[in-house]
Amino acid sequence: MNFKGRHMLTLFDYTPEEIQYFLDLGVELKVEYKKNGGHPDRKPLKKSLGMMFEKTSTRTRVSFETGIWELGGQPLFLSFRDTQLVGTGEAPSDTAQVLSRYLGGIMARVYKHKTLTEMAEFATIPVINGLCDLYHPCQILADLQTIEEHKGKLKGLKLVYVGDGNNVAHSLMIGCTKMGMDVSIVCPDDYQPDAEITKKVQVIADKIGTKLEITSDIPAGVKDADVVYTDTWISMGDESQKEIRLKAFKDFTVNKELMAHAKNDAIFLHCLPAHRGYEVTDEVIDSKQSVVFDEAENRKHAQKAVMLALMSD
Ligand code: CP
Ligand code: NVA
Repeated sequence: MNFKGRHMLTLFDYTPEEIQYFLDLGVELKVEYKKNGGHPDRKPLKKSLGMMFEKTSTRTRVSFETGIWELGGQPLFLSFRDTQLVGTGEAPSDTAQVLSRYLGGIMARVYKHKTLTEMAEFATIPVINGLCDLYHPCQILADLQTIEEHKGKLKGLKLVYVGDGNNVAHSLMIGCTKMGMDVSIVCPDDYQPDAEITKKVQVIADKIGTKLEITSDIPAGVKDADVVYTDTWISMGDESQKEIRLKAFKDFTVNKELMAHAKNDAIFLHCLPAHRGYEVTDEVIDSKQSVVFDEAENRKHAQKAVMLALMSD
């Protein structure tokens, strides 16, 4: 498998075997970190990671920042507010070429996926998607690592995502389908995942022989779930639609009644930040079934695997 210099913009670009490689390496790094608090036996990754943020973040920032440091490199936090990209309108293509002269990798959280593709086209170093309007691939690597950790496998499981057909839903559809899982997206009719992305995932599902379902029927969609997942109803950038979205999603809260349709041993995931009382109730997110903090922790281990694979010489 050759990862050197590749970008991580979407999991569409990675095979199931490559995704499994990231997951296995993430597990190894987690074990090493728990044992040694670092990686004394590994060759240090002496690279700088530029971390560009057009939107706010807790997990992505902290997990990448500590992750690159633990691998032997150094992070540079680059807010869009303080760089020329937004301030003076410098083109993403020029920014990418300049940053490629200084850094070993770029992680960027942006509004438009196009900003990332433009940077990736011109960068000579890996560009990693830290969330855009369409995808959140690093989140889903951590999610898959968490599911495997708790369920012992991925293939054959059913993941049900309840809520907005957003960036997280898209990346879950891609990643879970590629890993042999059935995926059910339970959402209001007007908030289904992107049609083009759904079509592409359906092709993968047909090839692999898994089920992809999009439905507004909560009991039917959640039935037999091994994993129940939700995310905010109002993603960053959707704030102006708050009132209309709160109305549209009011029956889609993941609560005890909804969880009762899933298998008894189903686990609950949320990429966080959670809006308690809206997309999930306290009793679910704080229940024994909830693994949201393992999931948040695994962001760091999974992303260290990505950085090691893509940024090593
Ligand atoms: N899940 C996630 O990406 O969290 P942050 O927005 O805090 O980075
Ligand atoms: N869908 C959310 C995820 C936040 C981690 C958003 O884009 O704001």
